Formats: sequence, C-alpha cells, structure tokens
Amino acid sequence: MKVVVTGGAGFIGANLCEALARDDDIDEVVAVDDLSSGFAENLDGMDVDLVVGTILDPILLDEVFAGADAIVHLAARGSVPKSVKDPLKSHERNATGTLRVLEAARRAGGVHTIVSSSSSVYGATPDLPKHEDLPTRPMSPYAVSKVATEWYTLAYQHSYGLPTLAFRFFNVYGPRQPAGHAYAAVIPAWIAAGMKAETLYVNGDGKQSRDFTYVDTVTWTLTQAVKRRVTHDIPVNLAFGGGTTLLELIARLEHAFGRSLTVEHRDPRPGDIRHSTADPSRLFELFPDVDPIDFDEGLARTLAWWEARI
Ligand SMILES: NC(=O)c1ccc[n+]([C@@H]2O[C@H](COP(=O)([O-])OP(=O)(O)OC[C@H]3O[C@@H](n4cnc5c(N)ncnc54)[C@H](O)[C@@H]3O)[C@@H](O)[C@H]2O)c1
Repeated sequence: MKVVVTGGAGFIGANLCEALARDDDIDEVVAVDDLSSGFAENLDGMDVDLVVGTILDPILLDEVFAGADAIVHLAARGSVPKSVKDPLKSHERNATGTLRVLEAARRAGGVHTIVSSSSSVYGATPDLPKHEDLPTRPMSPYAVSKVATEWYTLAYQHSYGLPTLAFRFFNVYGPRQPAGHAYAAVIPAWIAAGMKAETLYVNGDGKQSRDFTYVDTVTWTLTQAVKRRVTHDIPVNLAFGGGTTLLELIARLEHAFGRSLTVEHRDPRPGDIRHSTADPSRLFELFPDVDPIDFDEGLARTLAWWEARI
C-alpha cells in the first residue's frame, strides 16, 4: 500500500509518517512538503521519501500521486493570526491547495483522500459541545479556508465519486510541535518558556477552553482511516470533549515542572474563539475502538520529548 502525506514534514505530518512507516500493511510512505513551516529533520531516521515542493504544482502532484492508494492531505498555512495578517496567502494554500490536491487525486484514478479541517469552522456558534450538525460561523480567514477545505473535499465525493473523509482537528499537541515563533501553539510555547524559566503569556483572561488531543491519537485514527478506507459524507470531529481552560493548563504544567511559573496576561487575539469542546459521537461511530491518550499522559510524553532535546 502506498500512502502520500501532504505536509508530511510538519508537526502532525511527521508523526503520521512515522506511524505509517512502522505499519506492516503499508509498503511506501511519501511526504510532500514545501518546508514553509515544516522541517526535513522531522523525518530523520524514517523510511519515508520526502519530495520537496508545493501542492500548488499539478505536475508534481501527478508524479507523486501515481500508484497511490491513499492521500492524507495535511499541508496548509496553519494559524489564525497568520491568516488575519495575510488572508490571500492562507486562501491560496488552504482552499486552492486543497482543490489542487483533489483534482490530482481524481486524475490519479480516484485515490482515497483524507483531509484536515479545524474546529475553528464552528467559530461564533455558541453551542457546546460542538457537534457536526451545528452551523459553521467562521471568525477568521483561516477558518473560512478550512470550511472550503472540508466542503470541497465532500463535494468531490458527491460530484465525482471520489472516496473522501474530512476530519475536524481541535487542538493537537505532542512531540515535534514547534515553539519559539510568534505563531506557536500554546502547549509547546509554554513548555519551552517554562523550561527556560521565562514568562508564559496568556491572551485574555485564560478562562477560554480548548479540547487538547495528543498527536498519537490523531495519527492512530488517520492510519486506521487509511487502512479501512473510511469515507463519510459530512465532516467528522477528531477530538474527545475534554475541555481544558488555559488556567487549568498552567496548573497542570506547574505540577509537571514541580514549581510555579511566571504568567502575564495580554489582550485577547482577534478571531480567537472562546470555548471549543468536541462531541465525539460520530468519531466513535466510525472508529469504535479509538482509545484516546489522556491529557496528563500526553503532557508527560510531550515534556519528556522536550527534555530529551535540550
Ligand atoms: N495542530 C493543530 O492543533 C491543528 C488543529 C486544527 C487543524 N490542523 C490542521 O492540520 C494540518 C497539519 O497541521 P500541523 O499542526 O502539523 O501544521 P504544520 O505547519 O506543522 O504542518 C503543515 C505542513 O504543510 C507544509 N505546507 C504548507 N503549505 C504547503 C504547500 N503549499 N505545499 C506543500 N507543503 C506545504 C508546511 O511546510 C508544513 O510542514 C493543517 O492542515 C492544519 O490546518 C492542525
């Protein structure tokens, strides 16, 4: 079985490539990545071919998708604030980029395609937990580009019979998630700051909640989706409903570090949503055997990875 992972040198992509390369049912793993936010070193020591290039290049996609049994499309310009700063770039990579991938999947003979959307599509919808039948009310250009990602993907199922599945990831965390840049996700940013005894910056009051999912749970689900050729006609949440506020996260990190951390509050970020907790019912219907790694265990593994690096 040949699997192509777009964005394979990124955080989730490299963890997925590692899981796929270890799987006996999968013979060939190819990562396509333009290294705009990913790193070739993320794939060091893995039996994975890295093709450096952009998903916006149809010729490159035709070459890479030839003979593929599945595509996991993760390449994107992540981050809400990046999209607020430059919406056209986010649209081009995320919306147009997805369309390019779907067209190439169709040209390659109808390859099973799994894509990554985001909880940000729920946006201003106040209902909790977020279930997939709720309306989408995106609050940032990034979120709109993810609405386009998931619905183009599902439209290809309806219009052309392409076997597809669109997941909505919530807040994924774990090894290889970068810190140290302005758009870093909160867990790696705070672990890196905590390790250097630097200040943890909280946007807003810290009472906003997030549904954190450990990356191995995400890569297990993606791997099973590939192997079982799972498709679905509407998007599927990939998170488990564990709402953790940022203030609770700080308390857990203080416990893990065994000392108090210096915290400073800043203005809330434009486009950020207040609460985000998934209803996982549909996920459990499709993957009854999914067994998520709990938050403290995932945090401990992530900290161990950081400690081994420093
Ligand atoms: N990390 C999360 O919590 C989270 C939450 C919701 C959705 N997602 C989605 O999951 C996917 C993976 O996210 P991640 O956290 O691993 O981000 P990431 O930035 O680490 O990975 C994205 C990868 O895509 C590559 N890329 C970007 N544009 C490209 C292009 N035009 N051609 C080829 N490669 C390109 C980047 O270099 C990077 O390696 C993204 O689609 C993201 O929107 C992530």
